[in-house]
Amino acid sequence: MINPKTPASADVPPIWAPGIIGAPTPKIARVRDYWLGGSHHLATDRRLAEQFTLCAPQLPYLVRTHRDFLRRAVTRLVRDGVHQFVDLGSGMPTVGNVHEVAQRLTPECRVVYTDIDPVVVTESRELLAGDDRTAYLHADVCRPEQILDSPELRGLLDLDEPVALLAVDVLHHVPDSAGPAELLTTYVNALGPACQVALSHTCRHEQMLDAIGLYSDIYHEPVPEFAFRSAAEVGDLLTGFEVVEPGLVPIPLWLPDADTEPDQNPEHFSGCAALARRR
Ligand SMILES: C[S@@+](CC[C@H](N)C(=O)[O-])C[C@H]1O[C@@H](n2cnc3c(N)ncnc32)[C@H](O)[C@@H]1O
Repeated sequence: MINPKTPASADVPPIWAPGIIGAPTPKIARVRDYWLGGSHHLATDRRLAEQFTLCAPQLPYLVRTHRDFLRRAVTRLVRDGVHQFVDLGSGMPTVGNVHEVAQRLTPECRVVYTDIDPVVVTESRELLAGDDRTAYLHADVCRPEQILDSPELRGLLDLDEPVALLAVDVLHHVPDSAGPAELLTTYVNALGPACQVALSHTCRHEQMLDAIGLYSDIYHEPVPEFAFRSAAEVGDLLTGFEVVEPGLVPIPLWLPDADTEPDQNPEHFSGCAALARRR
């Protein structure tokens, strides 16, 4: 029997992705899972992850930094009485993703995950099978109606109760031409007056741009455009929102855990995070 916790070899189809046969194309979502310490990656993903890590050692750190923010933000929101989440651009729901963090604190928490990548969606649905407090939508963050009008969201969430919108490490996939600030407002307005948004954004940084150059050299799939914004530009996305304490800050400094010393070395990260609500 295949142990679902065991990382799959190149030859054995993993139990969470039974359709995969032989050596599949590596996926960035599984590379991220590997960096996060998960078990949903294949030999080809691990090889790609090691290549990236050699060339751009800050990438695994950045992935963990965003995921750590997600954990702290969801924990804070659940403690504040928010038990419903809409997560934009979720990637694989493994290793401390929203439902794991939230349901550990309050089992009835409900989560609508979304992603544009059909492979990520299919594999994620396998992973979430049996959890009727989660749904995983195949949707484009730039098409809010695909998420907000979906029967899955309408069936799972009660919009008369508080909902949090999570935009963690995803808005760099949304170009200015798609109106990211207007999109945030559309989501938050539709998700009820108590809706809060937790946002983290990778910022423009020379190391990041170098890493993306390598990404396109190493990763043999079309590489999307990235909109890495400055911290001031990320702040502009929240115009019209009230940003709550501690404000828009470098990701490790957003309510760090009491027992850890936040990493303040600017070489190690290039991103900022905030929690905001409607004015
Ligand atoms: C950097 S990962 C972040 C995953 C997760 N939010 C986290 O913090 O671990 C970005 C994810 O957004 C997805 N994505 C990219 N463009 C998107 C779009 N237009 N709509 C929805 N998801 C998108 C990608 O497929 C990927 O899984």
